[in-house]
Amino acid sequence: MGYKVAVVGATGNVGREMLEILAERAFPADEVVALASRRSMGVELSWGDKTLKVKALETFDFSDVDICLMSAGSAVSKEWSPKIAAKGAVVIDNSSCWRLDPDVPLIVPEVNADAVAGFRRKGIIANPNCSTAQLVVALKPLHDRAKIKRVVVATYQSVSGAGHEAMDELFAQTRAVYVTDPVESKKFPKRIAFNVIPHIDEFMEDGFTKEEWKMVAETKKILDPKIKLVATCVRVPVFIGHSEAVNIEFEEPLSADEAREILRDAPGCLVVDKREPGGYVTPHEAAGEDATYISRIREDPTVDSGLVMWVVSDNLRKGAALNAVQIAEALINRKLIQAKRKAA
Ligand SMILES: NC(=O)c1ccc[n+]([C@@H]2O[C@H](COP(=O)([O-])OP(=O)(O)OC[C@H]3O[C@@H](n4cnc5c(N)ncnc54)[C@H](OP(=O)(O)O)[C@@H]3O)[C@@H](O)[C@H]2O)c1
Repeated sequence: MGYKVAVVGATGNVGREMLEILAERAFPADEVVALASRRSMGVELSWGDKTLKVKALETFDFSDVDICLMSAGSAVSKEWSPKIAAKGAVVIDNSSCWRLDPDVPLIVPEVNADAVAGFRRKGIIANPNCSTAQLVVALKPLHDRAKIKRVVVATYQSVSGAGHEAMDELFAQTRAVYVTDPVESKKFPKRIAFNVIPHIDEFMEDGFTKEEWKMVAETKKILDPKIKLVATCVRVPVFIGHSEAVNIEFEEPLSADEAREILRDAPGCLVVDKREPGGYVTPHEAAGEDATYISRIREDPTVDSGLVMWVVSDNLRKGAALNAVQIAEALINRKLIQAKRKAA
């Protein structure tokens, strides 16, 4: 018998992608339950060739669930993850609620899969922020070779990172511009259609946004607390796929050619780096794909040992749903969990 998997937030951007990825990867589940708020009860979703009717989280009994993939925001996770874990299910959470809790592993399987074993302390494992996930996949192999001292990153983040209502807002605003209707902003603080917004999540006292701070704190927890990082996070009018311009300073020399070779062999990375028009990856091509694409690798002439590169990935997949499913696979491959119904 396989595992029983609950997907909380199944009607959302990340939840729908989770159902698709579970089917695509033939995840060893013999039952998948789709959960969301009461508003969505009865909504039909697909898991492979099966149709699932959405159930309400608040009345669902988790007693025989093995794995709960959670993507319903921080407030829901704060209330529900401990209750679900207390029923014996491992919670793999996509919100920012538990990421920096010392008793909760924060995992990107290509980088620190072995740390999953720490899930026993609270029964919860955290997924990083979408921008951090793709960044550390690209940084890890270079850090192993030449020790990263400092990273400067500017992000170009798609609207799907802010949920399905944000995607609807970009669509509605774009249409409104074309038909000269008034442009309304609800999810974003300024118009996003035909614009860019240098502000994601709330402002902090030091002038950075929380999104920028998350990239710093999460990179340190996942990869190395010694790495210094500074970020500018920007929302762009792209539906799916986050891009990052990344400037890295190393302790040891590392040429662009060597970095390209290292990244070609690195798990989760795909190098597309031809120095010609179109010889790089854009979010449009990365959408729907699993890889973290690395392009435009070049040496930084302003420091002793530095590289500049362009990193793109599907934020709903590697940045959230795929990473969560990979974490569940890491638990299973390491024999850290057993299906309850098999054990009984
Ligand atoms: N989008 C990304 O790139 C990304 C990346 C990493 C992490 N995350 C995180 O993943 C989470 C979900 O993001 P998303 O983009 O999928 O958001 P979304 O499209 O807005 O979907 C939110 C989901 O949460 C459910 N939900 C809301 N309140 C609930 C409640 N009280 N009880 C049960 N379910 C509830 C919604 O159900 P209803 O349809 O019933 O309202 C919906 O299924 C967030 O924490 C986000 O920060 C997102």
